[in-house]
Amino acid sequence: MGDRYAIILAAGKGSRMKSPRAKVLHEVGGRTMLGWSVALAADLGCKKTVVVVGPDAPDVAAAAGRLVGAANVCVQLAQSGTANAVGAAAAALGGLKGDVIVLYADTPLIPVEAGERAFAELSRGASICVLGFEAAAPGRYGRLVMAVDGSLDAIVEANDASAEQLRIGFCNSGVMAAPVALMFELLGEVRNDNAKGEYYLTDLVALARGRGLSAAAARCEERDVLGVNSQGELAAAEAAFQEAARTRMLREGVTMTAPETVWLSHDTRLAPGATVEPHVVFGADVHVEAGAVIRAFSHLEGARVGQDALVGPYARLRTGARIGRQAHIGNFVEVKNVKVGEGAKANHLSYLGDGEIGAGANIGAGTIFCNYDGFFKYLTLVGENAFVGSNTSLVAPVSVGAGSYIGSGSVITEDVAPGALALGRGRQAGKEGWATDFRVSQSALKAAGSKPEGAV
Ligand code: UD1
Ligand code: CA
Repeated sequence: MGDRYAIILAAGKGSRMKSPRAKVLHEVGGRTMLGWSVALAADLGCKKTVVVVGPDAPDVAAAAGRLVGAANVCVQLAQSGTANAVGAAAAALGGLKGDVIVLYADTPLIPVEAGERAFAELSRGASICVLGFEAAAPGRYGRLVMAVDGSLDAIVEANDASAEQLRIGFCNSGVMAAPVALMFELLGEVRNDNAKGEYYLTDLVALARGRGLSAAAARCEERDVLGVNSQGELAAAEAAFQEAARTRMLREGVTMTAPETVWLSHDTRLAPGATVEPHVVFGADVHVEAGAVIRAFSHLEGARVGQDALVGPYARLRTGARIGRQAHIGNFVEVKNVKVGEGAKANHLSYLGDGEIGAGANIGAGTIFCNYDGFFKYLTLVGENAFVGSNTSLVAPVSVGAGSYIGSGSVITEDVAPGALALGRGRQAGKEGWATDFRVSQSALKAAGSKPEGAV
């Protein structure tokens, strides 16, 4: 295999999104559409990926720079067509040996196998290859005009097509592969004498044929090349991603009773043998190990859940939550940047932020790690097998020794020694008969139609 390169077109205005955010920075499965294209190029083994951006899109240029390096971001000065856009990448790629693939940044769900098929046609002798699909509604798509020998003759844009050509259902996805040198050489010959007055990348096919070179169309499914132009199409792409991701998880051995209610991210990792109950949302960067159960209505992001752990229902795991083997995180418990040791339990109504909980520790209902003073954050360390009574505030920085006990309702501001009991609350007082006497005196006042001083 020769070297591979990618050009990602991201210079479109995306005005149909009707959003102040650039189209290609909208997310599918928790990753920007631009990010999907860059990831595909990487999965295809491209040595260098160039992103072509518009002149008035600093946010797209910045995002592209973070993904591929600023030197690989090229600006297309005027949006005069896809051929002109690819031409903008010449400065970054011209002169390199190998093959290049053109991708659109608004087409996020192309499987790596589809890209491989386009490159494969080049190895089989085609000089240029596009990915084509049978469109349910061909509409505005460019039509692939095939030769009798099964090779590709030309691509005709809908605006320039004859009535007969418009009846063709085999359409251009926009993905095109060719040797770098040929691509840039042919680009120089593209003219804009067409219905839209644009420089069409699709003209490269006829130009190659005119030189006696062969062109090919590799097939893919329509759902693989769904382009996003509107919020409705973005939602449709998200639905397609979710459907595919759930199917993959089930196939790999994850148990989901209602997969259609589970929301996954592009990088969600659920081990075979993990169970996910209905209505669970996985934000970015979550790994769950075998035997763990994520119960209904939980929300996780940036978290690791160990073997046989139990999370939820209604749990919230945030970035840096590291839930150990067989640990339990119960309802209305929020965990952020805390390592929870093996078999530790926090079953009800708690905020555990910044710290560590040792193996076997028990965190009572209503425990709060007071981690923030309005300026800085501090750690709370709870030792192994410690027992933190309900409704305790642990004011960080503080450490609770292994095996210690904390009385319920305590506000703990000082370190607790291992094996000790700590109480940080007012002592209980009692007055015998007080309540009975009070009732008698107050009902007498009421019966007499008067009130104590100050009553309203
Ligand atoms: C293009 C193809 C068409 C194909 C369709 C698939 C051409 C001439 N036509 O049509 O055959 O069926 O995609 O969706 O290529 N872009 C730039 N700079 C430009 C123009 C476009 O970066 O000057 C980018 C856009 O942001 C977009 C992509 O190129 O990501 C495609 O451009 P668009 O104008 O949407 O092409 P279509 O008319 O849809
Ligand atoms: Ca388009």
